[in-house]
Amino acid sequence: MKKHRDTPFVQITDQDVEQYALEMTSAESEQIKELVALSDQELEFIDMLSGNLVGQMLKMLIKLSGAKRVLEIGTFTGYSALMMAEALPGEGQVITIEMNLRYQELAEKHFERFDAEDKIRLLKGNARELMDELEGEFDLVFLDADKISYPLYFEKSIAKLKSGGMLIVDNVLWNGTVLHPDDEKAAALNQFNKMVADDLRVEQVLLPVRDGLSLIRKK
Ligand SMILES: C[S@@+](CC[C@H](N)C(=O)[O-])C[C@H]1O[C@@H](n2cnc3c(N)ncnc32)[C@H](O)[C@@H]1O
Repeated sequence: MKKHRDTPFVQITDQDVEQYALEMTSAESEQIKELVALSDQELEFIDMLSGNLVGQMLKMLIKLSGAKRVLEIGTFTGYSALMMAEALPGEGQVITIEMNLRYQELAEKHFERFDAEDKIRLLKGNARELMDELEGEFDLVFLDADKISYPLYFEKSIAKLKSGGMLIVDNVLWNGTVLHPDDEKAAALNQFNKMVADDLRVEQVLLPVRDGLSLIRKK
């Protein structure tokens, strides 16, 4: 897989342990494998894609919670949206928001190729604005977009979630830099994590899985 960085991420989990965990986790479906291969051909870098540990966690949480209406903020080429769609019951739906024109085009093509258009609705535009236009409650929100805006997305997601609904947030450890933030993104993520920890409307667990995954339940 082509990556942005030559130097590896600071490994939050030991690399061999992470590899072992991946090997012992349910494998990606054939269509997901194909989506990854296509994305790798189509783009120069695909390391924004959340990967199988996060993907299987999303699937597991959807199945365990019985979630039917899911919102995703940050589609990229459609990996996590398709993963979640695979776990949803027949009447379930993922609404996913993407603002980058190239990624919109690729995700749309992938959803068509894998006959997922009835289960996945792609909203094109800025999630900071589009989220306000969404009607009805969601059972689950997966947040995986611009890190600077995580505190804003938190408020908007809590407003959209039903009581007992779940917000799942990726990259909350940002390569471990949230411990000593020295750039804007690390500072925003650290602020976000503290905001969640202090918020009595939710209960949460921050898991050191891959780049940090928070599971936040609205009371
Ligand atoms: C980390 S990637 C998402 C990866 C995807 N969830 C997956 O697992 O394959 C983040 C995506 O969010 C998009 N994005 C960033 N800011 C956004 C915004 N304000 N509104 C909509 N999309 C945004 C980026 O263009 C990028 O495609």
